[in-house]
Amino acid sequence: MFDGVSEAITRGREVTLPRWTLQDAPVTVLVFCAVLLCQLAQEGASFDAGDTVTENLYRGQDGEDKVKAVDSCKLSGLGDCGKEQRLEERLVRLEGERVGHVEELELIPGKKHLLRTISMKPVIFEIPDFFTSEECKHMIALAKEQGLEESKTTSSGTHEALPLYDGNRDNKLSLKEMQQTLEDGFDVYLDDGDVRQMYSDLGIDLNHDDFLSRQEVTSKSIGLIKAYVSKLKEEMPSKKSRFSEQTWIYPDKTTDPLVLSFQERISRLTRLPQALIDKFSYFQVVHYGKHGHYNAHHDSSNVDSMTCCHLTQSKRCRICRFMTIMVYLNTVEQGGETAFPIANNDTYDRHVFRLNGMMNLNARCHQSNLRVQPQLGKAVIWYNHFINETTGWLGDVDPFTWHGGCPVTKGKKWIMNRWIAVSNDRELDLELS
Ligand code: OGA
Ligand code: FE2
Repeated sequence: MFDGVSEAITRGREVTLPRWTLQDAPVTVLVFCAVLLCQLAQEGASFDAGDTVTENLYRGQDGEDKVKAVDSCKLSGLGDCGKEQRLEERLVRLEGERVGHVEELELIPGKKHLLRTISMKPVIFEIPDFFTSEECKHMIALAKEQGLEESKTTSSGTHEALPLYDGNRDNKLSLKEMQQTLEDGFDVYLDDGDVRQMYSDLGIDLNHDDFLSRQEVTSKSIGLIKAYVSKLKEEMPSKKSRFSEQTWIYPDKTTDPLVLSFQERISRLTRLPQALIDKFSYFQVVHYGKHGHYNAHHDSSNVDSMTCCHLTQSKRCRICRFMTIMVYLNTVEQGGETAFPIANNDTYDRHVFRLNGMMNLNARCHQSNLRVQPQLGKAVIWYNHFINETTGWLGDVDPFTWHGGCPVTKGKKWIMNRWIAVSNDRELDLELS
């Protein structure tokens, strides 16, 4: 399925800097990425004491009236909603109010759940006991029954050319620049020691100055690097951006009562049009073993002219996920937190973020501003996109939603991901399947 392309597409879009490739011109003009000074605050997030429970924190961008319109449409079922009504439908987001805010929800008739705001930038919630322990076990069993396969990302080093990243245009590659080159080209995350080891094994940093100069970068040395890194990825999969296995579950292809009840919970939680819940209803179960992790990424991509993957069979598509609902199916013995490296930062500069190596949660998990502990049954919920005020539909990606899974240092980790797919075409999204 298409999940493998999500982060690669997102990252692909990030990498808009000019680069030189050996293929384009042997030792061409080195290029530059302007590094704006921007301090990434590294404080941990905390909860407010004195939680309060309020009636309703669901609001559309334009207030309550629009939400009611959606609800009345929902009540009669989308099938009864005329096209005109559909055109009036708007996305809604849970507001959050403030960190520490708690709302009581009835996601299952007769049962109470607490929705707690844990961040406002981006807006992130958690619901303890969203699943019972039996439900978690059941989901894991279901996934195992289906069989899991290695989680993939698309930038896997199959490119012919390896674009070399010379951020400061000094005509040579520093260790960090080589790391970024390999992150983009091979989806592999090395540290200074790894790169030095590679240079020494390959004998390519001839003067041992930790830089690759124009003279040292030859088609031969690039060939050696490519072969070396491909092998290293196989031998040390923990160096990859994502190290886990996964499977997809399709509610419309099952009669499993839990899977169906999950659909209902999602609908009650999100209050989004039922068509959005029903149409793209598949979810993913992921298993991380020891050293399993997932480097920082966005779950969705910025709105542009490319078709959303949920609306096409073509592989040339972008991932469009309005919101993420992630459930921990076990309590991890050690590690495996979900990290939001720049949650609540004042500013965000993507180049600084990259150059600081903040994507590499394998190495930098503990510098992340917000870390959520994986606890059996807990759901973590956030919006990858804002709502476009004019259209009432999918808006820009919230850049502060960078997140990922820290390495599991003891035990294993199981999660379930459910995304609400939304494109920028309201009519298509709301069409009945
Ligand atoms: C994901 C993800 C985080 C985690 O699967 O997209 O971000 O904690 N996972 O595993
Ligand atoms: Fe994610």
